[in-house]
Amino acid sequence: MEERKLQDLLESMTLEEKVGQLVQCNAGQFIANTMEITGPDGEMLPTEDLCRVMGSVLTFENAQQAKALQEMHLTADPKKIPLLLMLDVIHGLRTTYPIPLAMGCSFDDDLMTACADMARKESAACGVHVTFNPMVDTARDARWGRIMETNSEEVLINSRMGAAYVRATQGENLAEKDSVACCVKHYAAYGAGEAGRDYNTVDVSERTLRETYLPAYRACVEAGARLVMPSFNALNGIPSVANRWLMNDVLRGEWGFDGVVISDYNAVGELVPHGVAKDLKDAARLAMEAGCDIDMVKNAYYLYLADLVKEGIIQEETVDAAVMRVLKLKNELGLFENPLHGADEEAEKRLYLCEEHRAIARRAAEETAVLLKNDGILPFSGEVKRIALIGPFAEETRLNGFWSRPGAEKDTVTIPEGIRALMPDAEVIIEKGCGAEFADTDRSGIAPAAEAARKADVVILTLGEPENYSGEGRSRAELTLPGPQIELARRVIEANPRTAVVLFNGRPLVLEELAETAPALLEMWYPGTEAGNALARLLWGKANPCGKLSVGLPRSVGQYPMPYNRMNTGRPKPPPDNRPVPFSSCYLDMPNLPLYSFGYGLSYTTFAYEKLTLDRRSMTGEETLKVTVTVKNTGKLPGKEAVQLYLRDPVASVVRPVQQLIDYRKIELQPGESRDVEFTISEKQLRFIDFNCREVSEAGELQISTGYADHLILTESFVLK
Ligand code: BGC
Repeated sequence: MEERKLQDLLESMTLEEKVGQLVQCNAGQFIANTMEITGPDGEMLPTEDLCRVMGSVLTFENAQQAKALQEMHLTADPKKIPLLLMLDVIHGLRTTYPIPLAMGCSFDDDLMTACADMARKESAACGVHVTFNPMVDTARDARWGRIMETNSEEVLINSRMGAAYVRATQGENLAEKDSVACCVKHYAAYGAGEAGRDYNTVDVSERTLRETYLPAYRACVEAGARLVMPSFNALNGIPSVANRWLMNDVLRGEWGFDGVVISDYNAVGELVPHGVAKDLKDAARLAMEAGCDIDMVKNAYYLYLADLVKEGIIQEETVDAAVMRVLKLKNELGLFENPLHGADEEAEKRLYLCEEHRAIARRAAEETAVLLKNDGILPFSGEVKRIALIGPFAEETRLNGFWSRPGAEKDTVTIPEGIRALMPDAEVIIEKGCGAEFADTDRSGIAPAAEAARKADVVILTLGEPENYSGEGRSRAELTLPGPQIELARRVIEANPRTAVVLFNGRPLVLEELAETAPALLEMWYPGTEAGNALARLLWGKANPCGKLSVGLPRSVGQYPMPYNRMNTGRPKPPPDNRPVPFSSCYLDMPNLPLYSFGYGLSYTTFAYEKLTLDRRSMTGEETLKVTVTVKNTGKLPGKEAVQLYLRDPVASVVRPVQQLIDYRKIELQPGESRDVEFTISEKQLRFIDFNCREVSEAGELQISTGYADHLILTESFVLK
């Protein structure tokens, strides 16, 4: 539809109809017409009218339902304004790929693009118009269960992968049937909740906010994301959905965002318990004034927005502007011409779990696994007649991660299935050993598990935390393996030195003892639909691990916060890291550094970093610097390596981090092959936020290194003029 006609449409709408465009409810309630809306005096309100005016719904199941919803609404709505259908497609729809935190470990934007592409096709077929993704909250505290939803503790990775996701999902033209609009979330700094508790208050300086948190949302907005979701948390005293500075000044003002802002689930209503609104009407006012266009499920707008306009508290023009943004989005998606968009039962059948998608999911599961330790037992080799598969995850089907669709476990390739497919002649003995829940205390399975381990040629010991221990509302105070798992590990490792410990978890766990005792340690995260196949292929060397940690793994929860790009102090602790130095910035009872640092990960082959060269010793702001890192595969297997580039600014007007990732690239090398990996560094990559919250670069000497966090090598300097 021509944009001019949208204006005519808006002008023809009643106030009630306008408000309807800003209301979102759950699809289930919509279909059953079971919405329970309580009025100001506790009375139940009739909801028949809602279907007529409602602008959008969330969380529906399939194309058939998507079509039914749209038809139901269009029949009732005299203005025939199509519904927007939204869904959380976070790491795949039916074909599930690894959780976002694992995806970050690939250090591979192209892999993210491939996964997003497959999710887009499946989502479009399902009838999704908007996905509530990417989530780009920089998160450094593993107590926060939603750390699984982010790509990394590093904002550069979140920015690049988030932008890659947006581009792949939205495509060139949203009106194409297989394009899906992206909603970037949770704006802003949701990952910085105090004490790692979900929904908790965030207090960060504007400088830190602009340096560590905002760039990822901004990168997604610049990549074209059409929606933004404010976060649940209060940011420096103001809940995001009521934060005018965040939404009007920064998002719309500074960044020029002209898309739709949609609240998080119930977030408008939560302004009351937050204590910044006296009641739901006041909450509706605050959110509307702050620039929140759509109220997700709370119905504060439905109940009060028209009254607020009639009473002259909210200007009708403010509502009009919000409605116009929603109408424009519908128009960009081509919904006025084709309200069903891509919803297509046939396409669902063709695409869901198709071989091509499974292959992408399998590759992603293989390339996001991080080999933390290997005493040489992996990949398994020689004749393997008997395999002991042990541990609480041995036969687990829920290996997809928190945001997988209900029933996704039915599609998962389990570990026994994966092993049997690859090793059809070997006998697989399965012993659970113990459970992985907090409440699991039964130790009676440990002795039989150790016995099975003793008799086997190789042992695969699966440990971790259950799928629903990470994700929304799943914070933990301890990061240990729940239940008696560590006791199981002790007995099994003791019984057989060819034990590979395989971990399934949605957050960093404290692994100190296993790092000491396990002959091999492989972090699988939550790998998704192809879990069993990917694991078997990794263990037997059909795939070579190449993941690098996108977040450091702590020795103890007491080390948090422990970002790899920590700031210098006036009393830095001199190395080595394993003993305290009096009156330096350190702990008395443990090293400062994580157990495994950001950027770390092993391979079955070895890589030599031979040299790092700069094409110039000084550069102006207009020039670029070419950095070449020569990497050689010195082992016997082909392998992929994420080459990382770090910056250090020894003297600046403000304290700078001890190391800062500024670029990365994933390469593949055959045995004996050497490659010059080139990076082009511009002045923009050398910038930081100064004391006055401006993005600046400063003249002076800078250092470039490669390697990984806390293990930087081949440092070279240059001068920025
Ligand atoms: C979550 C969002 C999600 C929304 C809709 C909320 O509880 O915080 O991330 O997109 O629900 O399902």
